Amino acid sequence: MKEEKEANIKRWPGSMKNQPMRSSKCNLAGWWKNDLGSKMQVFNVDNKGDFSGMYHTAVSSTQKPIKPSPLRGSQHLDGDDKCTFGFVVNWKSFSDSTAVFVGQCFTDDKEREVLQTAWLLREKVDNLDNDWKATRSGHNVFTRVNPDEEG
Ligand code: BTN
Repeated sequence: MKEEKEANIKRWPGSMKNQPMRSSKCNLAGWWKNDLGSKMQVFNVDNKGDFSGMYHTAVSSTQKPIKPSPLRGSQHLDGDDKCTFGFVVNWKSFSDSTAVFVGQCFTDDKEREVLQTAWLLREKVDNLDNDWKATRSGHNVFTRVNPDEEG
């Protein structure tokens, strides 16, 4: 059993309980939403783990109307569901800020994919005296969006 836990092998409940169930690999491609209501679409992840996409934030510290913003990132391509990843969002169409996210994929107890992330958001300030207050940090949890909720 210890070996199975380390090899990420789970067992189906009920009548299937003796069948081993191997968790699928982590692939960030697709639509995700987070605890703030933001959504992101990750386009194809290439064979090096590199990807691009669009981030639709639900919140902003600016007064300008929010627009979808490009993201670029990279994920590990391990054979399990616990890969780490990072991506940068450039909010150039409505904000001078830049955000970076780092995170890890997980599978929860209901077999849902979960992305645990931490972020840094760098705001543009006018001068060096304001540098100390220019970076915010936080944490977001993403879950995969059902196909009928996409977009
Ligand atoms: C800005 O306010 O200058 C640009 C938008 C920033 C949105 C931030 S990034 C971290 C946090 N998570 C989200 O989904 N949105 C906010």
